[in-house]
Amino acid sequence: MSTIEHSNSTPQAADTSATPILLDVKDLRVTFGTPDGDVTAVNDLNFDLRAGETLGIVGESGSGKSQTAFALMGLLASNGRIGGSAKFNGREILNLPPKQLNKLRAEQISMIFQDPMTSLNPYMKVGEQLMEVLVQHKHMSRSEAFEGSVRMLDAVKMPEARKRMKMYPHEFSGGMRQRVMIAMALLCSPKLLIADEPTTALDVTVQAQIMTLLNELKREFNTAIIMITHDLGVVAGICDKVLVMYAGRTMEYGHARDVFYRPSHPYSIGLLKAVPRLDAEGEAMLTIPGNPPNLLRLPKGCPFQPRCQYATEICATTPSLEHFGEGRMRACFKPVEELV
Ligand SMILES: Nc1ncnc2c1ncn2[C@@H]1O[C@H](COP(=O)(O)OP(=O)(O)O)[C@@H](O)[C@H]1O
Ligand SMILES: [Mg+2]
Repeated sequence: MSTIEHSNSTPQAADTSATPILLDVKDLRVTFGTPDGDVTAVNDLNFDLRAGETLGIVGESGSGKSQTAFALMGLLASNGRIGGSAKFNGREILNLPPKQLNKLRAEQISMIFQDPMTSLNPYMKVGEQLMEVLVQHKHMSRSEAFEGSVRMLDAVKMPEARKRMKMYPHEFSGGMRQRVMIAMALLCSPKLLIADEPTTALDVTVQAQIMTLLNELKREFNTAIIMITHDLGVVAGICDKVLVMYAGRTMEYGHARDVFYRPSHPYSIGLLKAVPRLDAEGEAMLTIPGNPPNLLRLPKGCPFQPRCQYATEICATTPSLEHFGEGRMRACFKPVEELV
């Protein structure tokens, strides 16, 4: 049984189509000025997310996934410029002044990163770091903050939570550190959690545990999640919608079940073939031949064209992102029914 089939046994989130839109992203664009010219890392992205929904943003390294998240969080490098719009509960959040941005990050949107050590202070006990969040942002007393932190460590299934409060980050395993980060991210009850490759540094078994945990937490806290990953298999069991990204652009967007079982873009098909299969142990994993393009020297037309087995002359013109089917979009000239 493949990882994807296996994950399908996990029920997807309930139908949330009646829930109001929490995050509405329109024509999001991130451009970096470099000595060799401008680089468009995120090219007119459109997506939306409702409370309690999970969106997967999937693509190989360099696709623009992190820059998408950084733009929303106000964390772009200083040579970056943002275009387009992102409305959170109806309010524009792009290019917010620092004070409002800090408030948004403290109360509404949290982010967890690939390497928990970059976000944890190595010299401070884990408990102190958790308590600090509650004391600062929820104005709790130290004893309330202590109990609140223990409860959250319990919620992320940290064994012996009370004892662990007194330990330093280096005393935790990678998976347990990531649980601490998830606990910290959820302390202020954010409406949206952005997880940027949260399990990439972990081994496969621990990856699965963390994904199961996030799946449970999203139900418990009704948190919307943006799950960023290069591994389509990782998001199979947790996402409601998936955006497949390449060279800063949307290749395909739609309901997770459609993208997994009826991918409509050659790039998604390539990514799916690269998902490790539990039944294929020892078999070489298929990867898409070639590498993602240098953004300063993009090929003409479809950016995936040089690596695409279906490419023809027409692919030297840029395919527009077209709606098709229910809630789906794709940017490809090849008719869906001719893809295998
Ligand atoms: N500060 C920067 N200056 C110039 N280019 C950048 C900068 N940061 C990122 N980029 C470009 O943006 C591209 C996308 O980056 P990123 O979003 O981090 O990719 P991903 O997270 O999908 O691996 C990179 O390949 C790089 O070319
Ligand atoms: Mg990244």
